[in-house]
Amino acid sequence: MAETCILGIETSCDETAAAVVSRGERLLSNVVSSQIATHQPYGGVVPELASREHLRAIVPVVRQSLEQAGRTYETLDAIAVTQGPGLAGALLVGISYAKALAFALEKPLITVNHLEGHIHAVLLEERQKGNFQVEFPVLALVVSGGHTHLFLAEEHGRGWKYQNIGRTRDDAAGEAYDKVAKLLGLGYPGGPVIDALSTHGNPRAVRFGPAQIKHRNRGTPEDQQTPYDFSFSGIKTAVLRYVEIEGMREAVDARQRALTALKKPKTEHVLPLCDKKTLDLVASFQRSVVEDLTGKTLQAAVERGARTLFVTGGVAANSELRTTFEREAALNGLPVFFPSRKLSTDNAAMIAAAAYPKFMAGDFASPEFSAEAALPLR
Ligand code: KG4
Ligand code: ZN
Repeated sequence: MAETCILGIETSCDETAAAVVSRGERLLSNVVSSQIATHQPYGGVVPELASREHLRAIVPVVRQSLEQAGRTYETLDAIAVTQGPGLAGALLVGISYAKALAFALEKPLITVNHLEGHIHAVLLEERQKGNFQVEFPVLALVVSGGHTHLFLAEEHGRGWKYQNIGRTRDDAAGEAYDKVAKLLGLGYPGGPVIDALSTHGNPRAVRFGPAQIKHRNRGTPEDQQTPYDFSFSGIKTAVLRYVEIEGMREAVDARQRALTALKKPKTEHVLPLCDKKTLDLVASFQRSVVEDLTGKTLQAAVERGARTLFVTGGVAANSELRTTFEREAALNGLPVFFPSRKLSTDNAAMIAAAAYPKFMAGDFASPEFSAEAALPLR
């Protein structure tokens, strides 16, 4: 019998993605159509535009993923789709398409939580390298444009079960990168450009006090608070205040105008447009965010007895986050795993991989399911 092959479909935010993965461990194709150009003028994802772009891209993206995998629709064993969390209208495009495909092909349909997908991106690549040993409990930091979550995971039957032990109280870390980039006139998305510019600045030049990065209790019931919660809206406001106090507004506007004139600005275009003050600010912002993410995750890992660390989601592509985690985890004797940069940001390979244990357990979706914008991971 041929290897079990699952087609994954992901449309929860601003990437239309399809991939074919065999047995949750071998990537046969991975197609991602990004909407960055559509959302760039707005400095963030516009939900209505995201749905429209998914509608345009879904058919060619799925077709291309099958072509690259050398598969026909008939040889697929199942179709997996992201059910949530994410933008409801965007999720619905993938779900409607996956439902129609599964119905027409008479194949089982499997729903996947986007956050579990990010976690499985790590597993998929470790298995691809031949590493099948994971020591539990695993502490997974899922850190992206929409999420900053800490999950303690244990094995449960063929799959995993999760306990959410920390989360952001306001902005996600990636959202803070995007907002800070926007207010400094650095373009969208903010993560990659701030990552690249930070190496040119002094990360100790601007001091963000703990008050800027510490979460405040804004009415969260006591039983829902944890010592591992995050908050990133304070540091964004602190950057804004710094720009105003230091009189950087004019330079920001000029930079923004210069970059808008370019179609796809690269670091070599942005760098000459940044003075030392800007580079120092960007490096200091990144250092604060990275120290907070690594500090709380390591604290949680030690206090909750984690044996392995996973760091995943778009922000896991960050160079400084990776090196800091590697150093700090080693000091604590913990192995730490990241996906490759390609599988850190949204993709459908992670959805097809996360669906495999569900396929083996016969955990198929009922035809009535719908998108769940705030789907929890348990
Ligand atoms: O996982 P993802 O593709 O989508 C969500 O589920 O949100 O993550 C996108 C986020 C954006 O906020 C982007 O700025 C951030 O990941 N990001 C980065 C880097 N690359 C992408 N943040 C920091 N450093 C990076 N190198
Ligand atoms: Zn994501």
